[in-house]
Amino acid sequence: DTKGLKDYYRKYFPLGVAVSPYSIKQTQQAGLIIREFNSITPENAMKMGPIHPEENRYNWQDADSIVAFAQAHGLKVRGHNLCWHEQTPRWLFYDQQGTLLSKEILLKRLRDHIFTVVNRYKGKIYAWDVVNEAIDDDSTHFLRNSLWYKICGEDFIYKAFEYAHEADPKAVLFYNDYNTERPEKRERVYKLLKKLIDAKVPINAVGLQAHWSIYEPGQKDLITTIERFASLGLKVQITELDMSIYPWEKSPRERLPGESDTYTQDLEQKQADQYAMAFKVFRKYKDVITGVTFWNISDQHTWLDEYPVKGRKNYPLLFDQNLQRKKAYQSVTNF
Ligand code: XIL
Repeated sequence: DTKGLKDYYRKYFPLGVAVSPYSIKQTQQAGLIIREFNSITPENAMKMGPIHPEENRYNWQDADSIVAFAQAHGLKVRGHNLCWHEQTPRWLFYDQQGTLLSKEILLKRLRDHIFTVVNRYKGKIYAWDVVNEAIDDDSTHFLRNSLWYKICGEDFIYKAFEYAHEADPKAVLFYNDYNTERPEKRERVYKLLKKLIDAKVPINAVGLQAHWSIYEPGQKDLITTIERFASLGLKVQITELDMSIYPWEKSPRERLPGESDTYTQDLEQKQADQYAMAFKVFRKYKDVITGVTFWNISDQHTWLDEYPVKGRKNYPLLFDQNLQRKKAYQSVTNF
């Protein structure tokens, strides 16, 4: 049977997956990607640190290999990302003497970076996560107090979108963030998006990372989030979907007392139900939702094995450790 996820969703939206330069070279994983998905996102290869490690040096190899894979197999590519507080090289923010840059020079570096990267893949990357995770985790603040913010204030967000639009006027430009279904954070994201739109910033869409769990979000919060962002005239994509079997609450950095990493049938069923709920909502909002991307291919390898607790095995995806379809796969394709 060669029918894949993407075929079930032909009438709805493209289905994507995060890939690395290694996964696309493994025969089995590459086969699965091509069979099941019609879109990919480089998991790390296009982030500023990996792709632009020194001021006058770009490392194109990994990103190029991913784009070439997509071209060879007719997959769409989402670019991830152009401006973030993590995986960003230290050199970017400092001068030769180790002093923090002025706003003017930092913005010039941002512009050069965005022009160079976006230009290289023009016509091959249809969408960019322009700014990633700019909202603070602390509800008493609005924006995250990153070096971007410390040096530029809010302006780096506005500028990043302007530069990306100038570099590729056809690219679909995203603001991307996590925990966007939690009411308090959702409202701060909404506030930022509204400010950008009121200032005529060229933003087209919002990415819900969707690092979810079998415990949240609930259907009501998910629907409210999609409707609220859509009310601004923005499209919505699910950009980094996975469904942890552990609660995210308080983001524990250690195992909870008595917590084991056994993946019971009960957990697998709960996860299938949570996935079914989410995809039912996505289908219902197909006019707003223009893509759903999973963060990693299978339970064989997921970033959640290392985060937020190192070495705690997680099972958040639709394919198991042997790359076989799980219950959750059936639950999202049976409609
Ligand atoms: C993660 C990758 O999956 C890891 O391999 C890497 O070590 C850290 O970053 N939000 C994002 C993604 O926007 O870029 C992150 O990806 C996961 C959280």
